[in-house]
Amino acid sequence: MTAGQITYDMDELLHFYAESGLDIALSEEPVDQFAASEKAERLRKEQLSQMAAQRQPQNAQRQAQSNQRPANAAPATRAAPTPVFAPSTSQAVPDAQQIALARESAASANTLQELRERLAAFDGCGLKFTAKNLCFEDGNPDAAIMFVGDVPGRDEDMEGLPFAGRTGQLFDNMLSAIGLTREQTYLANMICWRPPGNRIPTPLEIELCQPFIERQIALANPKIIVSFGGPVTKLLTNAADTILRVRGNWLSHATAAGVQIPVMPSLHPAYLLRSPAQKRFAWQDLLSVKAKLQELGA
Ligand code: URA
Repeated sequence: MTAGQITYDMDELLHFYAESGLDIALSEEPVDQFAASEKAERLRKEQLSQMAAQRQPQNAQRQAQSNQRPANAAPATRAAPTPVFAPSTSQAVPDAQQIALARESAASANTLQELRERLAAFDGCGLKFTAKNLCFEDGNPDAAIMFVGDVPGRDEDMEGLPFAGRTGQLFDNMLSAIGLTREQTYLANMICWRPPGNRIPTPLEIELCQPFIERQIALANPKIIVSFGGPVTKLLTNAADTILRVRGNWLSHATAAGVQIPVMPSLHPAYLLRSPAQKRFAWQDLLSVKAKLQELGA
């Protein structure tokens, strides 16, 4: 094989990788993610069978007790279940427990810095293990206006910041059109880790990250929120309609403490890059945002 042929094959291979979503190298050595998830699945099954094994003697004991009990006796009080899983953030813990852990962890953060630390330590969402960086926030947490995007892309993952690269440039231009800079706004994402190959996050991944973005909003306590795109709008406001129908209309986000924050649903800058004809709608939304900020004296 000649050197020319090798170059050609490498080129083809790199194209194939890029089209399959493998567009950045995360480390020098390849990591077999399939083996990692098989191991997690094996651990999960082992824990489930341990659970079943622990339950068996209890069931047998209960059965024996109920056989001995006279038919008219009062029902026996239920023994407290043996805790099978110590609180842990292992990936092998079943989904419902991970969601409970995410809620507990987010609720226990009293500052944005603590929340960032809790999120960085949370192992329940698999996206953490394929992303290069956590994209937690940018801008000024004391700003009156908070923008919430959906998921980091390649540029954000490389920089560890929301709204970087081309999307970020367009976002900055949109801000400057209403006289704002990034430093006068606070930015966050519904999910802080880039899904591999920019795939759509699963409902479980969204649910696992929901307590963190909700707590982030509560702690930043902005006067208004702009939600970019359908999934973020749905998560924050429960809006059932498509983003093209709901955009431009003020909705509301209720924090856990019951504070209502006005939300302007708008079109995501990444979508506007692909569909520039829609920018006129985003412009209308930005004008409403500007008017609202003035109305609130912010
Ligand atoms: N899209 C987002 O929602 N957030 C980013 O940070 C980048 C793209």
